[in-house]
Amino acid sequence: FAPKLLAGSKLMITAGPTREAIDPVRYISNHSSGKMGYALAQAASAMGAEVTLVSGPVNLATPAGVKRINVESAQQMLDAVLADINDQDIFIGCAAVADYRIAEVAEGKIKKSSETMSLALVRNPDILATVAARNPKPFTVGFAAETHEVETYARDKLQRKNLDMIAANDVSIPGLGFNADQNALRVFWQSGAEDLPATDKLTLANQLLSLIVKHKNNP
Ligand code: C5P
Repeated sequence: FAPKLLAGSKLMITAGPTREAIDPVRYISNHSSGKMGYALAQAASAMGAEVTLVSGPVNLATPAGVKRINVESAQQMLDAVLADINDQDIFIGCAAVADYRIAEVAEGKIKKSSETMSLALVRNPDILATVAARNPKPFTVGFAAETHEVETYARDKLQRKNLDMIAANDVSIPGLGFNADQNALRVFWQSGAEDLPATDKLTLANQLLSLIVKHKNNP
C-alpha cells in the first residue's frame, strides 16, 4: 500500500563499510552497520523503483526485489558503481567508505618484529563526488556524519561534491546514527532544508525518499 512514487525509476544505493586489506588476513574498516542504506533500498523498492544496492560487508538480509552487489574495498565499490551508473535516475551514497587504503598490501601475513610499526596509507577515491561529477548525472544524494556545526559542514559538502541533496546526522547524539536502529536527519539542498526528527530508519528512509522525489521534480 506504499505509494508507488518511484515506479519506473532506477536507483542505486551504496551501503555499509568498506574493508581495506593490510595483508591476506587483516584489514582496516569501521563500525557502519549498513542499516540506513538497507532501509533506503527496502523503501525505494516498495515505492516501485528498480534498486541496485552496492554493499560492503554487513550482516543484513537483502531486501525483497533488490539487486545486491557485494564488494569489500572502496576501489571495488567504485568499480561496481561505475559499471552500472549510466542509466540510474537517483544515486544515494550511504556507505561509510574508508578515506584511506594501505599503500602496499603485503602478499604474505605480516610477522611481528619490532615494538612499533607503521602503515603507509593513501587516499581512496571519493565515490559520491565521482558520480556527482558526471554529465549527465543522476540526482545525487550524500550522507554526512558530523559531531558539531552540522549545517556548516553539510552545506560545504553539498557544494564541494556538487550534490543535489545531503542528509546529515549528528553522530554525537547517543543512541542515534551509526550502528543504531534509530536516526534523525537534517536534510539540505541548494535552496532549502528540512529536519526529519528521530525515528526508526525505515520511516526515515520513506521520508527522505519522498523529499528526493519532490525536489528531483522541482529543483
Ligand atoms: O566527506 P565525507 O566522507 O564526510 O562524505 C560522506 C559522504 O560521501 C557519504 O555520502 C559517503 O557515502 C560518501 N563518500 C564516498 N566515497 C568516499 C568517501 C565518502 O562515496 N571515499
